[in-house]
Amino acid sequence: MDRRKFLTNTGTAFAGAMLSHPVSVNGGHAARGKRMKAALVGTGVRGVSMFGRDLVRDYHPYVDLVGLCDVNPGRLRYAAEYIGAGCPAFTDLDELLSKQKPDTLIVTTTDSSHHEVIIRGLERGCDIITEKPLTIDEVKAQAILDAERKSGKKVIVTFNYRYPPYRAKIKELLMQGLVGEIQAAEFHYYLDHSHLTRYMQRWHGERRFGGSLWVHKATHHFDMANWYLDSEPEQVFAHASLERFGKNSPFRGENCRRCAHTSECPYYWDISQDAHYTGLYTSNEHYDGYIRDNCVFRPEIDIFDKHAALVRYANGVQLSYVLTGHSDVQGYYLAFDGTRGRLEARVGGVPEKPYNELIFIPESRFSDRETRIFKAEHKPGGHWGGDPIMMDKLFRNPDMPDPLGQQAGVRDGVMSILIGIAARKSCDTGLPVNIADLTDLVPRKQRTTR
Ligand SMILES: NC(=O)c1ccc[n+]([C@@H]2O[C@H](COP(=O)([O-])OP(=O)(O)OC[C@H]3O[C@@H](n4cnc5c(N)ncnc54)[C@H](O)[C@@H]3O)[C@@H](O)[C@H]2O)c1
Repeated sequence: MDRRKFLTNTGTAFAGAMLSHPVSVNGGHAARGKRMKAALVGTGVRGVSMFGRDLVRDYHPYVDLVGLCDVNPGRLRYAAEYIGAGCPAFTDLDELLSKQKPDTLIVTTTDSSHHEVIIRGLERGCDIITEKPLTIDEVKAQAILDAERKSGKKVIVTFNYRYPPYRAKIKELLMQGLVGEIQAAEFHYYLDHSHLTRYMQRWHGERRFGGSLWVHKATHHFDMANWYLDSEPEQVFAHASLERFGKNSPFRGENCRRCAHTSECPYYWDISQDAHYTGLYTSNEHYDGYIRDNCVFRPEIDIFDKHAALVRYANGVQLSYVLTGHSDVQGYYLAFDGTRGRLEARVGGVPEKPYNELIFIPESRFSDRETRIFKAEHKPGGHWGGDPIMMDKLFRNPDMPDPLGQQAGVRDGVMSILIGIAARKSCDTGLPVNIADLTDLVPRKQRTTR
């Protein structure tokens, strides 16, 4: 039996099995008003946590999770139990859409499949809440733009990096005109070795699945830049290289579990020590060959571990951007030079020596050059306190005021990935890339969400 047929058949059988002993998620709350009828597509580590277990636990009065979908039937079975929604589960999206009739699809599949799920959902009349990156190349981005316009439905991209209170404070200061008109910006983001390793071990290590870290990871940073600068990118030039991972090692193994070099490899990781990862991935790799603890030195890795880009914005701002994974430091350095002064944020470090500074240095012609230090803190909750705020806006009260413009639409999603896509192309060709040449969106001086 071929794989597609197997999954389709398994989907029907499995959905049936789940339906035979359903646990209602309605729980009598429907009387409180119209609940969102949502389905979760992609039950990997992200899906089952924030948009799975947390959603059911914390947003039950507002959201009815009516279905789960994943192409891996084993992972789906594990996810259904872990999430505890008691709703039917399917390996076939069309079957889910027909039987469960959700009004919203939450998309947490691998990056390269987002467009398939988003477009199918829009065609079937669903609104979409999708994880970043919106997609991985410009052709798929255009297809999503077209589908959204045709459907009259809405795509929201969950840029949780806009929501941590610390970053909201920066946006607030910029909107208040603290630095005056912004002319230049610097954004350096550091992933520590263990963070980068997690990407190199999985599908993220190959461009065809994650678009490279220019897209998979930097979409967050480019979106932050677009949001802070309140403009859209016009042209990108970039360099990048792969120096530590992939073929840059004298040894390699099949994966960490079957490797002869565990004692000499700085990235050795024993997945069997983690029950959740074993349940999600190892126990189900026979279905689809998804190996979670792949060798970080496998030759197929064709992404980069060192990136630098220059971005010119439609409002004239120049951004210099760096993404590296070459140290134990995790965090970022962000700076804005404006007509009234310079705002600098330095956040992160190593666990035993963290740093966190938010400083404004005014231009001397406006003051006695006394610097101002702002108190900005991280809050409890995922992603420095950003995830719960974003979840409240998405599910608890979608009409919640949004004075900082934190909720991102499809145009934001496209504009952020286009910088990464342009950077990737620039690395390949050695030439600058114009954003207007990639999709039918023409960069605007003033950012808009639609
Ligand atoms: N915003 C954030 O902070 C954040 C954090 C982590 C992950 N993410 C995003 O969440 C998404 C999922 O990441 P993850 O780490 O959970 O990955 P994962 O590999 O653990 O899970 C992806 C799941 O999608 C399934 N899948 C693939 N194609 C599918 C399809 N066509 N239909 C249904 N299911 C399909 C896979 O079988 C897998 O179970 C990614 O897009 C990632 O970029 C965002």
